[in-house]
Amino acid sequence: MKFILFTFVIVIMFSEKRSQSISYFLSTFLNFLCPKDPGLIKVKRINQAERVNNAKVLDFIGLVERYHYPAEEHSVTTEDGYNLVIHRIPRSPLSNNQKRKEIVFLLHGMIASSDYWVLYDPSKCLACLLADQGYDVWVGNMRGNSYCRSHTNMTVYNPKFWQYSFHEVGTKDLPAMFNYILNCTKQKNLYFIGHSMGATSILALLSSKPEYNIKIKIAIFLAPCAFWVKVTPTFNNTMSFLPFLKEILRVHEIYDFLPQSLATVTTAKTLCNDNAVTQTICIAVLFLLFGSDAPQLNTTALPDLLSHVPAGTSVQTLDHYYQNILANDFRNYDYGIVENYKRYKQKTPPSYDIKKITAPIHIFYAENDMIVAEESILELEKHLPNAFTQKVPYKLFNHVDFVMAIDAKTFVYNSILKVIQKFVS
Ligand SMILES: *[C@@H]1O[C@H](CO)[C@@H](O)[C@H](O)[C@H]1NC(C)=O
Ligand SMILES: *[C@@H]1O[C@H](CO)[C@@H](O)[C@H](O)[C@H]1NC(C)=O
Ligand SMILES: *[C@@H]1O[C@H](CO)[C@@H](O)[C@H](O)[C@H]1NC(C)=O
Ligand SMILES: *[C@@H]1O[C@H](CO)[C@@H](O)[C@H](O)[C@H]1NC(C)=O
Repeated sequence: MKFILFTFVIVIMFSEKRSQSISYFLSTFLNFLCPKDPGLIKVKRINQAERVNNAKVLDFIGLVERYHYPAEEHSVTTEDGYNLVIHRIPRSPLSNNQKRKEIVFLLHGMIASSDYWVLYDPSKCLACLLADQGYDVWVGNMRGNSYCRSHTNMTVYNPKFWQYSFHEVGTKDLPAMFNYILNCTKQKNLYFIGHSMGATSILALLSSKPEYNIKIKIAIFLAPCAFWVKVTPTFNNTMSFLPFLKEILRVHEIYDFLPQSLATVTTAKTLCNDNAVTQTICIAVLFLLFGSDAPQLNTTALPDLLSHVPAGTSVQTLDHYYQNILANDFRNYDYGIVENYKRYKQKTPPSYDIKKITAPIHIFYAENDMIVAEESILELEKHLPNAFTQKVPYKLFNHVDFVMAIDAKTFVYNSILKVIQKFVS
């Protein structure tokens, strides 16, 4: 039944004709995929019996300790009350370098968490490779994801909890995490690496609060989302579905989009494993959304990957991106005329003033990225005072290959290490 529903929704998501009759199926599907209670426990260790019953998944510490790397968990509260979890790999078993290390901070993309930097073994995992090189690796989490569903005054059942987008992640979560880390390590600055929305968030920060520029030695962006000069037809179709989706989510009081839940983990493990005939559907959806790259997709790892991503985001985040696509601009969230006047003292939301971003930026992008087109990357570069772009030297590289590709090390991570090395004092 789940499978039929799944297929059905995929078909209608990409078909042009939409009717009322699909609402019922869609709402059933959405309630399944966006449950109010994730029903999942994240643990540091799992025994074989627990692996089968699916209700437990490894957390960041568990994922890292599998390979005998040390890992730490830190907590920080933002100025507006969100309790965030930051992870850290302070050193590598391979590195006995005792001198004070520089910090590299990693920030995940939309609907993800710190987990996705450490899903592969140390020869393929960027966080591990950085630790091997002697860096002090810190891995951030955004409000609302599977690690950050807590607030000083609100529960996740309060719709206000979900009133945020990459703007608040950038201007509130990042300062809280940066200040905590820099204070904790007594350092003045750090290297930043952000994938997709991770990059969008720091662009919002550095243009809205330019005083943070001096804390960033260099920011490395992987497939950054900012401008939308060109959008692919599939992505446009998916996004133009959003007003409809938003309405259904609102009716069902769903504000948390695609949380990491028992439903996503069970779906991933039953429908996307190597022995399931349905695996082709999992792959088709992935390729349709992000770009098709069969040689670089490890299908065996798919159930594990999809057990950690999705990890939830706010519907407002999707909405903010959609607004930017329609406006063909990188600008603040549009609250409607009345609220815009209150917040911005003008009718329409102001564009982010990215000329204020003085920190050096190095952008990696991919030719087969179905979300961010090359044209949009070059537009971003044009607006940034201090940016350099580098195309991944592999034609099929897609939006999620930056974290998922079998050979991400060869295609991107080795270059990242070189870029950082150039700045090391
Ligand atoms: C939490 O609630 C208290 C009491 O209502 C209020 O004073 C405080 O500002 C709130 N804090 C945040 C972060 O919203
Ligand atoms: C900075 O770190 C010290 C310990 O290293 C701690 O006592 C202090 O409260 C921290 N300050 C802030 C503002 O977090
Ligand atoms: C995106 O879709 C909307 C409506 O579905 C359409 O009006 C618009 O022209 C499309 N834009 C592009 C760039 O394809
Ligand atoms: C694919 O993933 C499986 C399971 O995680 C792993 O054992 C295997 O080595 C991976 N293959 C490649 C080519 O990376």
